[in-house]
Amino acid sequence: MSANHSPAGHQTTTYDSAFLKACRREPVPHTPVWFMRQAGRSLPEYMKVREGIPMLESCMRPELVTEITLQPVRRHKVDAAIFFSDIVVPLKAIGVDLDIKPGVGPVIAEPIRTRADLARLRDLTPDDVPYVTEAFGMLTGELGATPLIGFAGAPFTLASYLVEGGPSRNHENTKALMYGDPQLWADLLDRLAEITSAFLKVQIEAGASAVQLFDSWVGALAPADYRRSVMPASAKVFESVAAYGVPRIHFGVGTGELLGLMGEAGADVVGVDWRVPLDEAARRVGPGKALQGNLDPAVLFSSPEAVREKTREVLDAAAGLEGHIFNLGHGVLPTTDPDALTRLVADVHEATAR
Ligand code: CP3
Repeated sequence: MSANHSPAGHQTTTYDSAFLKACRREPVPHTPVWFMRQAGRSLPEYMKVREGIPMLESCMRPELVTEITLQPVRRHKVDAAIFFSDIVVPLKAIGVDLDIKPGVGPVIAEPIRTRADLARLRDLTPDDVPYVTEAFGMLTGELGATPLIGFAGAPFTLASYLVEGGPSRNHENTKALMYGDPQLWADLLDRLAEITSAFLKVQIEAGASAVQLFDSWVGALAPADYRRSVMPASAKVFESVAAYGVPRIHFGVGTGELLGLMGEAGADVVGVDWRVPLDEAARRVGPGKALQGNLDPAVLFSSPEAVREKTREVLDAAAGLEGHIFNLGHGVLPTTDPDALTRLVADVHEATAR
């Protein structure tokens, strides 16, 4: 286990950061802020270093990953870095034929729909992702006291890409498998839970201070289906990294009706999109968990005054929480003005300084 997880370790400053304190529901000097997709197309310096390099290839170059991960920390003064990668990287690493198409997202050459297809998903070992370990090593050196968040896609969201063959609005093939062959579905999700657990362990052992499980598309499910067909696999992932003691964040979009169950699956912090105010989200999640969120990313396209007003609404709703990490309700939209993000960080820090 790396030193920055323990108060006795040499990186006690990371342990004492506002971000990790908020995750642990301890008093904070100010509300910590980071943004999902803070590294990426909203930044001109990102566009510059990515020029001519395909997305997946860029994830496999440790120096480039390090530079891109640091860019939003330098520019916006966010309270945490998130490792630059993608949820499909571990699938690529175990030999799934896939690509990330600009403006589309992950595209899978041969979708997984049968038991024979499932056999193509083998275990992931640290040797499959040496570039991840290397980049974490470089980053923890560069970041000093700023925590580094590792992440992975949750079993349902990964399954949706694998079964549909790409991004999907209605997840019809995924649901056909889930309802039509519950045993194959359970086996697929269990397989993905193992791969995801292994990928998160690589990141934690290489120095991740916290991990986030992105179940971006799970809001497509009703609570009963989530509980029966998805929660066991996500719970397995959280359980597999529990012993490390690093905070575990769980996030999805459109998950207002699932917030309680997503907390129950084992997270320490539940991410909330912009559709449910944080005080109501806290009632749904129950005690003993911090919340992360939840400014609508589209709000950043309005005037600075309107952004401030909507930010106050989020902070007011968060006032009674046990722990709050300020974030957007989903990732930074590609055409967001970077200055709006820089102002937002300063505004939250100033408004919540204690
Ligand atoms: O700053 C960060 O948050 C870290 C980097 C990060 C990326 N993807 C980089 C990326 C993270 C955390 C992800 C996770 C991810 N990838 C999710 C979960 C988060 C979410 O948005 O709900 C999902 C669903 C994916 C799958 C994926 N990858 C999509 C939908 C896309 C967008 C396709 C497009 O171009 O519109 C990608 C590609 C991707 N991942 C880009 C980046 C910076 C853009 C690719 C490019 O610049 O060419």
